Amino acid sequence: MKDKVVILGVTGGIAAYKAAELVRLLVKGGARVHVIMTKAAQHFVSPLTFQTLSGNPVHTELFNLIEEQEIGHISLAERADLVLIVPATANFIGKLASGIADDLLATTVMATRAPVLLAPAMNTAMYQNPVYRENQEKLLRHGYHFVPPATGMLACGWEGEGKLQEPSVILEEAFNLLSLKDLKGEKVLVTAGPTREELDPIRFFSNYSSGKMGYALARAARRRGAEVTLVTGPVSLEAPWGVDIVRVTSAYEMLDAVLRVFPEMTVVIKTAAVADYRPEERSPGKIKKSETPLTVRLVKNPDILAELGKTKGNRFLVGFAAETGEIGANAPQKLQQKNLDLIVANDVTRAGAGFAVDTNIVTLYFKDGRSEELSLMGKDELADVILDRIVAALGQKREKENG
Ligand code: CTP
Repeated sequence: MKDKVVILGVTGGIAAYKAAELVRLLVKGGARVHVIMTKAAQHFVSPLTFQTLSGNPVHTELFNLIEEQEIGHISLAERADLVLIVPATANFIGKLASGIADDLLATTVMATRAPVLLAPAMNTAMYQNPVYRENQEKLLRHGYHFVPPATGMLACGWEGEGKLQEPSVILEEAFNLLSLKDLKGEKVLVTAGPTREELDPIRFFSNYSSGKMGYALARAARRRGAEVTLVTGPVSLEAPWGVDIVRVTSAYEMLDAVLRVFPEMTVVIKTAAVADYRPEERSPGKIKKSETPLTVRLVKNPDILAELGKTKGNRFLVGFAAETGEIGANAPQKLQQKNLDLIVANDVTRAGAGFAVDTNIVTLYFKDGRSEELSLMGKDELADVILDRIVAALGQKREKENG
């Protein structure tokens, strides 16, 4: 998103207020946002809201001569990397589909060569109306993109399809349209989060893994064109949009889920912090306290990654190593033992690295003996760097295979 010019068109629906949150998210992501509002949109939200959030003047008039000279709607359309219409009313979509350009927003959308993403919001019956459907089909045929509305309680009192999609999902689709598709054709499996090993119906052994790194990798791989399956332990993160998600609890459940999809995968990234041990016995009822000490015997869980390494075939296998020191010795050893192509190692005791934080400091160890120390960065940014290295290594590997 950094320095991308995004035009956000707001049309007149009650969901217009949600576009304000989207502006905030886009600006946070580093985008330069220019908002264009239709006349109807201004009845729902004041231009001042968008001006304050975007840090740029809001455009409203087609025939504003001063503005025309300074910026001009055509030049705005030319400079855009992406045009978003949030919310897009049935009326605006109908206008676009009919080639009517009678206001600044419709003119800009028709004049741009940038991708256009529409987020419809309307009453359920309107959304299902065959005329609307035809308009949407026509725009899809002409290369416009849509983010489908959600289902829920609508402002008009109806319950059904037509609610504006969540800003986080619209943002994800915006990222998707701006991303290079260098993982197209790849089937990527990511595992994330901790596993839980139950002692009784209300207690378990687990670890501090938040799942953030794995979720960031799944999101980034999907944006870059891969078909992504995410096998996740229990975490409190939003499911990434456009990703097949399989939820598991224990290490054995994770093993089952991974083995089911493994044959069709081309890349496997195992960020999950799988519990190495589980209680030998799980009590069917709650263990009551007593005066004597409680001894719990732990038995070893399967090493999922090592299992995959044995039947790896042509797949690209990436492991993570959580260490509390001695990274340089332990990580390359794990790479060897588990038959990996790459291992991402971090010292979880360092400030800015490890489980619960949004940043990480890692060293990459490759199969050919190379290593690369990366500086502190956000987990989203790191996900893209790791995928860059995977794309490069896959390219080299396939070149070699093809002679
Ligand atoms: N892993 C796994 N199954 C396990 C344990 C680990 O698939 N039962 C995977 C992790 O997902 C990670 C890699 O193996 O990609 C390394 O995990 P880590 O916990 O760092 O190392 P271990 O192999 O468990 O070794 P140790 O705990 O002794 O450091």
